[in-house]
Amino acid sequence: MAPALGDMEPAEAESVYFNEYPPPKALPKHEALARAFIELHVEANRRVVLVTSGGTTVPLETQTVRFIDNFSAGTRGATSAEYFLQQGYAVIFLHRQYSLLPYSRHYSHSTNCFLDFMDEAPPVVGAANQDDGSIVVRDEYQDQMRDVLRKYRYAKKNNRLLLLPFTTVAEYMFELRSMAKLMRPLGPNALFYLAAAVSDFFIPRNRMVEHKIQSSELPPEYEKDSAVGGEGDEIYTGENEAEPGSRKKLVINLDPVPKFLHRLVDGWAPDGSMVVSFKLETDPALLVYKARTALQRYSHHLVIGNLLSTRKWEVVFITPDAPHERWIRVPKARRSKSISGVEDQVGLAEIKKGGAAPTETRQQPTQAEGPVDDGLEIEGLIIPELVKLHDKMIEKKNKATP
Ligand code: PMT
Repeated sequence: MAPALGDMEPAEAESVYFNEYPPPKALPKHEALARAFIELHVEANRRVVLVTSGGTTVPLETQTVRFIDNFSAGTRGATSAEYFLQQGYAVIFLHRQYSLLPYSRHYSHSTNCFLDFMDEAPPVVGAANQDDGSIVVRDEYQDQMRDVLRKYRYAKKNNRLLLLPFTTVAEYMFELRSMAKLMRPLGPNALFYLAAAVSDFFIPRNRMVEHKIQSSELPPEYEKDSAVGGEGDEIYTGENEAEPGSRKKLVINLDPVPKFLHRLVDGWAPDGSMVVSFKLETDPALLVYKARTALQRYSHHLVIGNLLSTRKWEVVFITPDAPHERWIRVPKARRSKSISGVEDQVGLAEIKKGGAAPTETRQQPTQAEGPVDDGLEIEGLIIPELVKLHDKMIEKKNKATP
């Protein structure tokens, strides 16, 4: 039996994994766009951050009808990208297709439907057709929308933002590898901010069926080519069998996705670049431990830990250097409302692992810019702190190489 990808050395797992899948169709186009984008910013000696954002899908069939997905809407990535742009970085935004995008995110949510921001202008006195007036932005949203529009236009006009979409976990991996390699001329000016919620389990290609999985029995003459059990009696990904008198069931058997963070840090990324990964947990008792373990395992520069229930209000920076653990929180009075969030859990992950009870906030926001509901966005605290760490890394590198 062939060894599982997770049991191989990272370089071997890379070669096996990437040989197994065809590269995404859009990759050559994305590479050409990224090459030109990076060249432009290398020339300007500008920092470039690769922000990954949104969830990845795990297809169940090659001609995909069904797939496994996760919760991520891309809020962290899209919001962070705006704050990076504000800090003067150029941003390659590698995102799940149709997830939130920088700037347009303010108006694309169902809770922030863009139509609610608009109105019909009052008819112009004396105009021939009183029914065909202009569409305008409602008075109460003028300032906020003008501000967003200006920033968006600035980023576009000055070529500061490159949007590259992916959908599946395999597409994500190919794109990440290519972008990291293309970023090499940037050296220490490159930053990786891996906020995407990458699937941890997948169906290897050699166990995936071509066609749609059938939910009912087929006549024998169709069975051979049907989705389930292409090869003899073998069922591609578990069982899909009818118990007498019951409906068919599908049992899916997934393999772990190889962790390519090793390869990113040790192979693909430019020398001297900064790599920041995220760690998401739901159990407060595990968060800090898991984030620390990730930092030790991959030897990169920063893990940002967050809990699903409090991620919009607090994160923890886990670093190799002192203070090793640092909490960043939005002050209670400035917290945005969140349907899925649980405010009572703020501070739990810090207390659970034996730390002191958290103070209300460890830092004041550098700028009190907020979204529509005027809540302070935690990314507005995260990014300036991260940029300080990146400054230090670059400074150190410059001192080391006269
Ligand atoms: O989009 P939102 O709703 O705003 O949610 C944002 C978020 C909660 C998704 C984000 O803040 C976050 O935490 N993202 C990382 C989720 C996570 O826990 O990833 P992980 O533990 O599976 O992976 C850790 C790191 O390794 C991640 O940075 C990931 O990009 C990377 N990884 C993961 C799997 C894999 N096969 N290879 C990887 O390199």
